[in-house]
Amino acid sequence: MKIYAHRGSAGTLPENTIASFRATAILPVHGVEFDVHMTKDGELVVIHDESINRTSNGKGFIKDMTLAELKSYDFGEWFSTKFKGEKIPTLREVLYVFKDTHHHLNIELKSDVFPYEGMEDKVLEMLKEYRLERRVVISSFNHEMVSNFKMQAPQIETAILFMEVMIRPDDYANIVGADALHAFFPTAFRAMGKEAIASGRQFRVFTVNEEIYANMLQEIGVHAIFTDFPERMYQFLNRR
Ligand code: G3P
Ligand code: CA
Repeated sequence: MKIYAHRGSAGTLPENTIASFRATAILPVHGVEFDVHMTKDGELVVIHDESINRTSNGKGFIKDMTLAELKSYDFGEWFSTKFKGEKIPTLREVLYVFKDTHHHLNIELKSDVFPYEGMEDKVLEMLKEYRLERRVVISSFNHEMVSNFKMQAPQIETAILFMEVMIRPDDYANIVGADALHAFFPTAFRAMGKEAIASGRQFRVFTVNEEIYANMLQEIGVHAIFTDFPERMYQFLNRR
Protein backbone atom coordinates (compact mmCIF):
# COMPACT_ATOMS: atom_id res chain seq x y z
CA MET A 1 0.00 0.00 0.00
CA LYS A 2 1.37 3.37 -1.04
CA ILE A 3 1.64 6.47 1.12
CA TYR A 4 0.80 10.05 0.12
CA ALA A 5 2.00 12.83 2.42
CA HIS A 6 -1.13 14.86 3.11
CA ARG A 7 -0.81 18.67 2.66
CA GLY A 8 2.94 18.10 2.83
CA SER A 9 3.36 16.56 6.27
CA ALA A 10 0.49 18.32 8.04
CA GLY A 11 0.87 16.46 11.35
CA THR A 12 4.40 17.58 12.06
CA LEU A 13 4.90 20.74 9.96
CA PRO A 14 2.69 23.67 8.95
CA GLU A 15 0.42 22.29 6.23
CA ASN A 16 0.84 23.36 2.60
CA THR A 17 3.99 25.43 3.19
CA ILE A 18 7.37 25.26 1.48
CA ALA A 19 8.95 24.18 4.81
CA SER A 20 6.61 21.20 4.86
CA PHE A 21 7.13 20.37 1.17
CA ARG A 22 10.93 20.56 1.39
CA ALA A 23 10.91 18.08 4.27
CA THR A 24 8.46 15.84 2.40
CA ALA A 25 10.55 15.96 -0.78
CA ILE A 26 13.29 13.91 0.90
CA LEU A 27 10.94 11.23 2.27
CA PRO A 28 10.83 7.79 0.60
CA VAL A 29 7.02 7.85 0.40
CA HIS A 30 5.28 7.37 -2.96
CA GLY A 31 3.45 10.68 -3.22
CA VAL A 32 2.40 14.04 -1.85
CA GLU A 33 -1.00 15.74 -1.81
CA PHE A 34 -1.76 19.47 -1.73
CA ASP A 35 -4.69 21.85 -2.32
CA VAL A 36 -5.00 24.67 -4.84
CA HIS A 37 -7.10 27.85 -4.80
CA MET A 38 -7.14 30.92 -7.06
CA THR A 39 -6.50 34.52 -6.02
CA LYS A 40 -8.39 37.66 -7.12
CA ASP A 41 -5.67 38.31 -9.72
CA GLY A 42 -5.82 34.76 -11.09
CA GLU A 43 -2.76 33.25 -9.40
CA LEU A 44 -2.79 29.65 -8.18
CA VAL A 45 -1.89 29.26 -4.52
CA VAL A 46 -1.48 26.19 -2.33
CA ILE A 47 -3.68 26.27 0.77
CA HIS A 48 -6.46 24.06 2.12
CA ASP A 49 -9.25 26.41 3.26
CA GLU A 50 -11.17 29.00 1.19
CA SER A 51 -10.03 31.64 3.67
CA ILE A 52 -6.69 32.34 5.31
CA ASN A 53 -8.21 32.67 8.81
CA ARG A 54 -7.12 29.33 10.26
CA THR A 55 -3.57 29.05 8.91
CA SER A 56 -2.25 32.63 8.88
CA ASN A 57 -2.19 35.86 10.86
CA GLY A 58 -4.63 37.43 8.37
CA LYS A 59 -8.31 37.18 7.57
CA GLY A 60 -10.35 36.91 4.38
CA PHE A 61 -11.14 34.78 1.37
CA ILE A 62 -8.42 33.91 -1.13
CA LYS A 63 -10.74 34.84 -4.01
CA ASP A 64 -10.90 38.43 -2.67
CA MET A 65 -7.14 38.95 -2.28
CA THR A 66 -4.26 39.45 -4.70
CA LEU A 67 -1.15 37.31 -4.50
CA ALA A 68 0.83 40.33 -3.23
CA GLU A 69 -1.65 40.83 -0.37
CA LEU A 70 -1.57 37.13 0.50
CA LYS A 71 2.23 37.10 0.51
CA SER A 72 2.22 39.82 3.21
CA TYR A 73 0.82 37.36 5.80
CA ASP A 74 2.54 34.72 7.90
CA PHE A 75 1.51 31.09 7.35
CA GLY A 76 3.89 29.37 9.76
CA GLU A 77 3.59 30.95 13.17
CA TRP A 78 0.05 29.64 13.87
CA PHE A 79 1.61 26.16 13.90
CA SER A 80 4.78 26.99 15.83
CA THR A 81 6.96 30.08 16.32
CA LYS A 82 9.76 28.01 14.73
CA PHE A 83 8.03 28.51 11.38
CA LYS A 84 7.48 32.27 11.61
CA GLY A 85 8.08 33.81 8.20
CA GLU A 86 6.54 31.04 6.07
CA LYS A 87 4.56 32.56 3.20
CA ILE A 88 1.67 31.12 1.23
CA PRO A 89 3.24 29.15 -1.66
CA THR A 90 2.15 29.46 -5.27
CA LEU A 91 1.52 26.26 -7.22
CA ARG A 92 4.61 27.09 -9.28
CA GLU A 93 6.78 27.25 -6.13
CA VAL A 94 5.50 23.86 -4.97
CA LEU A 95 6.02 22.21 -8.35
CA TYR A 96 9.56 23.56 -8.31
CA VAL A 97 10.27 21.73 -5.02
CA PHE A 98 9.12 18.41 -6.53
CA LYS A 99 10.26 18.87 -10.13
CA ASP A 100 13.16 16.42 -9.83
CA THR A 101 11.92 14.09 -7.07
CA HIS A 102 10.34 10.65 -7.53
CA HIS A 103 7.03 11.66 -5.95
CA HIS A 104 3.62 11.26 -7.52
CA LEU A 105 1.80 14.59 -7.08
CA ASN A 106 -1.86 14.76 -6.13
CA ILE A 107 -3.14 18.24 -6.89
CA GLU A 108 -6.56 18.81 -5.36
CA LEU A 109 -8.56 21.56 -7.08
CA LYS A 110 -10.38 23.22 -4.18
CA SER A 111 -13.25 24.67 -6.09
CA ASP A 112 -15.95 23.11 -3.92
CA VAL A 113 -17.36 26.34 -2.45
CA PHE A 114 -16.34 29.08 -4.90
CA PRO A 115 -16.09 28.52 -8.65
CA TYR A 116 -12.63 29.43 -9.89
CA GLU A 117 -13.17 30.24 -13.54
CA GLY A 118 -10.33 29.03 -15.77
CA MET A 119 -8.49 27.17 -13.02
CA GLU A 120 -8.26 23.96 -15.08
CA ASP A 121 -6.48 25.75 -17.98
CA LYS A 122 -3.96 27.41 -15.68
CA VAL A 123 -3.11 24.16 -13.87
CA LEU A 124 -2.78 22.31 -17.16
CA GLU A 125 -0.48 24.95 -18.63
CA MET A 126 1.83 24.73 -15.63
CA LEU A 127 1.95 20.93 -15.69
CA LYS A 128 2.97 21.06 -19.33
CA GLU A 129 5.64 23.66 -18.61
CA TYR A 130 7.12 21.48 -15.84
CA ARG A 131 6.60 18.28 -17.86
CA LEU A 132 4.67 16.74 -15.01
CA GLU A 133 1.69 15.42 -16.96
CA ARG A 134 2.64 11.79 -16.30
CA ARG A 135 3.45 12.28 -12.62
CA VAL A 136 0.22 13.83 -11.33
CA VAL A 137 -3.33 12.99 -10.41
CA ILE A 138 -5.84 15.83 -10.42
CA SER A 139 -8.62 15.39 -7.87
CA SER A 140 -11.59 17.39 -6.62
CA PHE A 141 -14.79 17.20 -4.61
CA ASN A 142 -16.12 19.33 -7.49
CA HIS A 143 -16.84 16.58 -9.98
CA GLU A 144 -17.81 19.02 -12.75
CA MET A 145 -14.27 20.31 -12.57
CA VAL A 146 -12.83 16.77 -12.77
CA SER A 147 -14.99 16.17 -15.82
CA ASN A 148 -13.84 19.43 -17.48
CA PHE A 149 -10.23 18.66 -16.74
CA LYS A 150 -10.47 15.17 -18.25
CA MET A 151 -12.08 16.53 -21.42
CA GLN A 152 -9.24 19.03 -21.84
CA ALA A 153 -6.43 16.64 -20.94
CA PRO A 154 -7.35 12.97 -21.35
CA GLN A 155 -3.69 12.00 -20.86
CA ILE A 156 -3.66 13.21 -17.23
CA GLU A 157 -4.91 10.98 -14.41
CA THR A 158 -7.99 12.30 -12.62
CA ALA A 159 -9.80 11.30 -9.43
CA ILE A 160 -13.13 12.03 -7.78
CA LEU A 161 -13.08 12.79 -4.08
CA PHE A 162 -16.01 11.69 -1.94
CA MET A 163 -16.95 11.43 1.73
CA GLU A 164 -19.88 8.98 1.70
CA VAL A 165 -20.36 5.48 0.35
CA MET A 166 -21.06 5.66 -3.37
CA ILE A 167 -23.36 3.28 -5.21
CA ARG A 168 -21.69 1.77 -8.29
CA PRO A 169 -18.53 3.89 -8.05
CA ASP A 170 -17.11 2.40 -11.25
CA ASP A 171 -20.11 3.54 -13.33
CA TYR A 172 -20.06 6.98 -11.75
CA ALA A 173 -16.33 7.41 -12.37
CA ASN A 174 -16.93 6.50 -16.01
CA ILE A 175 -19.64 9.15 -16.32
CA VAL A 176 -17.47 11.85 -14.77
CA GLY A 177 -14.30 10.86 -16.59
CA ALA A 178 -12.35 10.01 -13.46
CA ASP A 179 -9.62 7.38 -13.47
CA ALA A 180 -9.23 6.92 -9.72
CA LEU A 181 -11.40 6.94 -6.60
CA HIS A 182 -10.30 9.00 -3.59
CA ALA A 183 -12.56 8.27 -0.64
CA PHE A 184 -12.95 8.97 3.07
CA PHE A 185 -11.27 5.89 4.56
CA PRO A 186 -14.22 4.31 6.50
CA THR A 187 -16.04 3.76 3.17
CA ALA A 188 -13.34 1.17 2.37
CA PHE A 189 -14.75 -1.13 5.07
CA ARG A 190 -18.21 -1.17 3.47
CA ALA A 191 -19.36 -3.26 0.51
CA MET A 192 -18.39 -0.38 -1.76
CA GLY A 193 -14.75 -0.81 -0.74
CA LYS A 194 -14.63 -4.24 -2.34
CA GLU A 195 -16.37 -2.91 -5.45
CA ALA A 196 -13.90 -0.04 -5.72
CA ILE A 197 -10.92 -2.39 -5.48
CA ALA A 198 -12.48 -4.86 -7.93
CA SER A 199 -13.04 -2.06 -10.46
CA GLY A 200 -9.31 -2.03 -11.18
CA ARG A 201 -9.13 1.71 -10.52
CA GLN A 202 -6.70 3.15 -8.01
CA PHE A 203 -8.60 3.31 -4.71
CA ARG A 204 -6.86 5.79 -2.42
CA VAL A 205 -8.29 6.82 0.94
CA PHE A 206 -7.95 9.78 3.31
CA THR A 207 -6.92 10.74 5.97
CA VAL A 208 -5.33 7.84 7.83
CA ASN A 209 -3.28 8.85 10.85
CA GLU A 210 -3.60 5.74 13.00
CA GLU A 211 -1.56 2.61 12.41
CA ILE A 212 -4.42 0.29 13.36
CA TYR A 213 -6.51 1.59 10.43
CA ALA A 214 -3.53 1.60 8.06
CA ASN A 215 -3.03 -2.07 8.83
CA MET A 216 -6.69 -2.93 8.18
CA LEU A 217 -6.75 -0.95 4.94
CA GLN A 218 -3.59 -2.67 3.74
CA GLU A 219 -5.13 -6.06 4.49
CA ILE A 220 -8.24 -5.38 2.40
CA GLY A 221 -6.14 -4.24 -0.57
CA VAL A 222 -6.56 -0.44 -0.61
CA HIS A 223 -3.95 0.95 -3.02
CA ALA A 224 -2.88 4.05 -1.09
CA ILE A 225 -3.51 6.18 1.97
CA PHE A 226 -3.17 9.90 2.56
CA THR A 227 -1.64 10.64 5.95
CA ASP A 228 -0.56 13.69 7.95
CA PHE A 229 2.30 11.59 9.41
CA PRO A 230 4.03 10.13 6.33
CA GLU A 231 7.39 9.45 7.99
CA ARG A 232 5.90 7.55 10.95
CA MET A 233 3.47 5.67 8.72
CA TYR A 234 6.26 4.69 6.31
CA GLN A 235 8.28 3.22 9.18
CA PHE A 236 5.23 1.35 10.44
CA LEU A 237 4.24 -0.15 7.07
CA ASN A 238 7.80 -1.12 6.19
CA ARG A 239 8.78 -2.48 9.60
CA ARG A 240 8.71 -6.16 8.64
O1 G3P B 1 -7.29 14.47 -1.12
C1 G3P B 1 -7.58 13.84 0.08
C2 G3P B 1 -7.96 14.83 1.14
O2 G3P B 1 -7.02 15.85 1.15
C3 G3P B 1 -9.34 15.42 0.96
O3 G3P B 1 -9.77 16.15 2.07
O4 G3P B 1 -10.28 18.22 3.27
O5 G3P B 1 -8.06 17.19 3.57
O6 G3P B 1 -8.65 18.30 1.42
P1 G3P B 1 -9.16 17.51 2.60
CA1 CA C 1 -6.79 17.93 0.13
